[in-house]
Amino acid sequence: MGVSLQDKVAVVTGGASGIGRATVLAMSGAGARVAIADVTPAAGAQLVEQITGQGGEAMYVDTDVTRASAVDALFDAVLARWGRIDCAFNNAGVSDEPLFTIDASEENFDRVSAVNLKGVWLCMRRELKEMVRTGGGSIVNTASVAGLVGWRGAAAYSATKHGVIGLTKSAALEYARNGVRVNAVCPGVIDTPMGASATQSVGKVHDMMLAKHPQGRFGEPEEVARAVLWLCSEDASFTTGHALTVDGGYVAR
Ligand SMILES: NC(=O)c1ccc[n+]([C@@H]2O[C@H](COP(=O)([O-])OP(=O)(O)OC[C@H]3O[C@@H](n4cnc5c(N)ncnc54)[C@H](O)[C@@H]3O)[C@@H](O)[C@H]2O)c1
Repeated sequence: MGVSLQDKVAVVTGGASGIGRATVLAMSGAGARVAIADVTPAAGAQLVEQITGQGGEAMYVDTDVTRASAVDALFDAVLARWGRIDCAFNNAGVSDEPLFTIDASEENFDRVSAVNLKGVWLCMRRELKEMVRTGGGSIVNTASVAGLVGWRGAAAYSATKHGVIGLTKSAALEYARNGVRVNAVCPGVIDTPMGASATQSVGKVHDMMLAKHPQGRFGEPEEVARAVLWLCSEDASFTTGHALTVDGGYVAR
């Protein structure tokens, strides 16, 4: 029998594309009701339609995770419809401009920090409050291998992903006695729209990034989704405060 999230309520940010989308589909397949939060209404509506067509239950809430009022509206909408939150995947993220630190812009630093770090914190605050109220739950945040090692030309991105692991571990400690588990996933390069500059390109960047993955390939979004599903489920009942690599061996070198 596969991992079950039967009758659980899940929220996935950045849920309309890539890793988030694959996780929404995996969670729905495991029996969860899923709220998809993103800034792409057309893709969100299409995904809700697909899930509904398969007999699942989903809703799309247009949510810029950098804005506290939008995040509050998201959780208010989920609670109004389903009354609780059991699982949350804080996954919305953006990549850096590919520049070394001297040349990087303040605007880029603020934009990447706002989505990747503050966005996770804003969502976690509401999720934790709700899960403490109902006696438990599981939160998974998307970090990256860039949260465990440095990335040249992506200092801001790497800093936010290290920060996500800090948020993860701290919240795990704070709410361990409340039945709430908080973990992170650290993907290597995954074949999504964000990863496409490496996965879909030909030449130096592609070859250099591929060489960092000992398995000799990039990852698929479904491979990250399966790790998230496990962390969300009762099968991971004694795992909290962990940053789980899904990276084909990237950080083991
Ligand atoms: N693809 C990779 O190689 C890779 C590797 C490691 C970590 N990650 C991380 O995985 C996560 C998902 O990335 P992906 O590869 O699926 O990329 P993606 O671009 O396919 O998906 C990211 C989603 O986040 C949404 N988003 C962006 N800004 C938002 C905002 N302000 N509010 C709400 N939603 C917003 C986008 O609309 C998009 O749907 C990100 O946090 C990324 O940093 C990706």
